[in-house]
Amino acid sequence: MNIHTASTWVEVNLETIRNNVRIMRAAAGVPVMGIVKGNAYGHGTAKVSRAIVEGGAECLGVARLEEARDAREGGVDVPILVLGYVHPERAKEAAENNATLTVYNLDLAKQLSEQAIKNGVVIPVHVKIDTGMRRLGVFAENGVEFFEQIQRLPGIKITGMFTHFPRIDEVRHPTTYVQLERFNHLIGELRSRRIHTGVIHASTSAGVLYMPEARFDMVRSGITIYGLKSTEDLPQLDGIQPALTWKARVISIKNIPAGEGIGYNHRYITQKEERIGVIAVGYGDGMRRKLGNFAIVGGKRVNMVGGMCMDQCMVNLDEVPDVKIGDEAVLIGTQGSETITAEDIAKAWNTTNYEVVNSLHARVPRFYFDA
Ligand SMILES: Cc1ncc(COP(=O)(O)O)c(C=O)c1O
Repeated sequence: MNIHTASTWVEVNLETIRNNVRIMRAAAGVPVMGIVKGNAYGHGTAKVSRAIVEGGAECLGVARLEEARDAREGGVDVPILVLGYVHPERAKEAAENNATLTVYNLDLAKQLSEQAIKNGVVIPVHVKIDTGMRRLGVFAENGVEFFEQIQRLPGIKITGMFTHFPRIDEVRHPTTYVQLERFNHLIGELRSRRIHTGVIHASTSAGVLYMPEARFDMVRSGITIYGLKSTEDLPQLDGIQPALTWKARVISIKNIPAGEGIGYNHRYITQKEERIGVIAVGYGDGMRRKLGNFAIVGGKRVNMVGGMCMDQCMVNLDEVPDVKIGDEAVLIGTQGSETITAEDIAKAWNTTNYEVVNSLHARVPRFYFDA
């Protein structure tokens, strides 16, 4: 199978990713950790990890150890931080993938230390501080004690500390400043005790737009380097472009008489004789099983009619009479003068652009371009 014979596929422009990283790096003014969790936000971990490093990111961030392995397959040798949970018994695997792990709980850190000793490895770790997300992390007020305990454990070595802001996309929300204050307070306490913290990071993409005081030694950026918006409330950084296009092929066209039900449960009834096309994409690829979806076909935005099936969906082609079997439909991206963004789909699905691109299933082939 190649791009000309694929049913539905994703095109990723790696040069756009590199360029987005360059722009993010310049705006941040500090090193960038490129976030490649969730299959690099649906774009494909290995190739995209490499492009992000080529664009100038000094570090990568993933959620799972297997994602660190996938990123290494892209041939990158920068540090990779696993932001989420890793079972302590995977210490050796972590070392083999040269992964930095996150510690946020004393028992887990002790088990990791034991496993590291047992396997004769030293695991670099970043300490996660909970300043207000109430997810992973040591409460900021217990941070000093935690550092004192962790730094004594053999087999693990503190190389960083970080926190996470759950409301940073809500521009200048007071919660973020309260969190920043707690984080800064802890940093001050650690410094006054000469406790080594390693690299300090907190901000994600949105913070780079308006919170220079949250940059510390590094920023973690995902959504912006894919060219998507981190917040609807501020303009995107100049020059940032979406890197991903999602397409599918028109695979059938029929004139359906008036009054016929279309698709499962006949959720659409033709009003008159209608030219109905079938597109080879469905919820098994990452669309949503709901009404009100759309695509660009023949250079025009057309509505999907009837429910979304697992592998197909139907569109009304009355407005685009020249469209024929084999033509491309665009789900995300541009065709002619029409564009559908991940943000447009997010609005229609009542979710975020993060979830839209993350929903792209593994069976959808990714094709990579360099210009
Ligand atoms: C801990 C952590 N850091 C960084 C990021 C990247 O955030 P963004 O994609 O908004 O830049 C995420 C994203 O979910 C995250 O969970």
